[in-house]
Amino acid sequence: MVSASLPDFPWDLLEPAKAVAAAHPDGIVDLSVGTPVDPVPASIRSALADAADAPGYPLTAGTPALRAAITAWVARACGASGTPGVLPTIGSKELVAWLPTLLGVGRGDVVVIPQVCYPTYEVGVKLAGAEAVRSDSLTALGPDRRIRLIWINSPSNPTGRVLPAAHLRKVVAWARERGVTVASDECYLTLGWDETPVSVLSDEVCDGDYTGVLAVHSLSKRSNLAGYRAGFVAGDPALVAELLAVRKHAGMIVPAPVQAAMIAALEDESHVAGQRARYEARRSALRQALTAAGFTIEHSGAGLYLWATRGEECWKTVDWLAERGILAAPGAFYGPAAAQHVRIALTATDERVSAAVARLADSSSR
Ligand SMILES: Cc1ncc(COP(=O)(O)O)c(C=O)c1O
Repeated sequence: MVSASLPDFPWDLLEPAKAVAAAHPDGIVDLSVGTPVDPVPASIRSALADAADAPGYPLTAGTPALRAAITAWVARACGASGTPGVLPTIGSKELVAWLPTLLGVGRGDVVVIPQVCYPTYEVGVKLAGAEAVRSDSLTALGPDRRIRLIWINSPSNPTGRVLPAAHLRKVVAWARERGVTVASDECYLTLGWDETPVSVLSDEVCDGDYTGVLAVHSLSKRSNLAGYRAGFVAGDPALVAELLAVRKHAGMIVPAPVQAAMIAALEDESHVAGQRARYEARRSALRQALTAAGFTIEHSGAGLYLWATRGEECWKTVDWLAERGILAAPGAFYGPAAAQHVRIALTATDERVSAAVARLADSSSR
């Protein structure tokens, strides 16, 4: 069975803590999963509805209008002056899970993933039958000729760490020397707080040449579209053409109304600014409350999470928070090196965030 080769689905392990948090008299504040809770902007909903009469098969490559909107967004938001290939995806999780397979990575090959990371990178490597190696250091990898693909993720889920342009340049140069593909997951690119994230496609990193480089993007967090499943990949035109060729056969097609909604989302930055402001306020309230309650916040310069520790085993911290009706994700979900951290998502309503802040203040004044 394929599922037997995959890691345990970790969220099931959180059920006992969830039951404790849910028993709080004022209800649970669930900061464990980073799922958007604010409304889908009205202009995007209208674009979806206006495209509802869609009896024919959509284009796997995306409509010309969507391709133009993605290309313009990449030039603008990523600071990319070259000519990348672009391709819409059904959210970015499916691409993360299938990229090694789509690129022909398989048995005997190695894929490098970050030490502490989103679990789907490892899932994708296992689905392809390849081996995952966790490393943030190129030198630590040594001269392993089996490496075919390296995943980077900045801003990181779960840590909120941002990789500077100089680091991204080194990764790209290292990979090109070895014929390795770089896949940069940038789904939190627009959520920079104390630091400004840089795209791997930016001129600072690639000088307009995207050979061997792919950037993975998502509208889930930027535009509250997690329910629509809307993402895209951009970068090396030859690699993107190969992905398109395989995905056409496999029926990996973004539905036509979602393609129309993506255009509306990509062409408007005002809703993005509004959503950013909501997250910024929640972040600052939670950060202050956690610090006052004795937590240390590490990294977290960008993205949708606070990476926090009380200097103890993460499950102990999860239980401490659950007793106060707050649910967090244990660092252990993201890699063995994260056993003393918890991930606190900013994706709760203002009302629920205020409840969490009050409960944390209560515990720090006791
Ligand atoms: C780092 C990272 N990549 C990809 C995804 C997948 O996002 P989506 O499939 O909604 O685009 C997530 C979702 O949380 C994520 O944290």
